[in-house]
Amino acid sequence: MKRYFVTGSYGQIGMDLIPAMLERYGKENVVATGRKKINPTFKELDVIYHRLDVRDHYGLRNLLVEYDIDIILHNASVLSATGEKNPQLAHEINFEGFYNVLEATRELNLEQLFAPSSIAAFGPTTPLVNTPNDTIMQPTTIYGISKVYVELMGEYYNKKYGLNFRSLRYPGVLAPSEPGGGTTDFAIWAVFEAIKNKKYECFLSKDVRLPFMMMSDCLKSTFDLIEAPDDKLKHRSFNVTGMSFTPEELANAIKEYIPEFEMTYKPDFRDAIARSWPQSLDDSAAREEWDWNPEFPFDKMVIEMLDGVSEKLGISYK
Ligand code: SER
Repeated sequence: MKRYFVTGSYGQIGMDLIPAMLERYGKENVVATGRKKINPTFKELDVIYHRLDVRDHYGLRNLLVEYDIDIILHNASVLSATGEKNPQLAHEINFEGFYNVLEATRELNLEQLFAPSSIAAFGPTTPLVNTPNDTIMQPTTIYGISKVYVELMGEYYNKKYGLNFRSLRYPGVLAPSEPGGGTTDFAIWAVFEAIKNKKYECFLSKDVRLPFMMMSDCLKSTFDLIEAPDDKLKHRSFNVTGMSFTPEELANAIKEYIPEFEMTYKPDFRDAIARSWPQSLDDSAAREEWDWNPEFPFDKMVIEMLDGVSEKLGISYK
């Protein structure tokens, strides 16, 4: 069995990724790390957990050696909205942190480095409808710029040193748990607020279309890619998507289950970020090279989110 190391385990994705990895790879083979103290969920699952700041090059290396790690999933990252509030912090975590992980993978000759990219790696000069896998990437946020850095450095190390780098450009990821610091977070907050208060003030305009996927599809794409045979991969970074929708379309879908629900719109700086990102993605490279196939369309997602958030809050919406 291979041994896996995850950074940013406390993030929106990490909180679901870690339990799924324990099940898939065995709890003795997964080391979770994050900046905070271990949380009750990880404690209950008996996760091997260490506090680690990805800026700490030595701490990182010591853990990789101590646990004889084969594969890193580098999820630690400051997201788009938080990054715009503190670009200096985003630079430290997203650029320097990634560089530490990349260099440690090279020096220790680890088997693979998976580091997510994002739709944020694209920008206003990109063709934003059905965005191709290989296209113009001139993002305008520090987060997006850091993701282009991740992709290009990963490719560079792959060509120069044979480092097995892989990446997915995640769209907005949907799960019935609180997200933080992202531009796509509105879709999750809308469901929480629909169930709690039957109204939600959206920080994007009603007609901004963005690509999304359910968490289960996000985890599936991650496992599928990290387990794909290397000789099948022509790319190192892949578009993946499950659906696209606007805030208004989401509001209308929620209204079918909660007729009193009202979404109002008060666009802030995140609206401009969202408008610079793709509306939809062409994920044919992922489909061709490692059989990517999402399972959650829009309608199924809405029910799953409503049921999940309702259970989490202990408030019925029916
Ligand atoms: N969900 C992320 C964000 O909104 C995009 O990768 O920042």
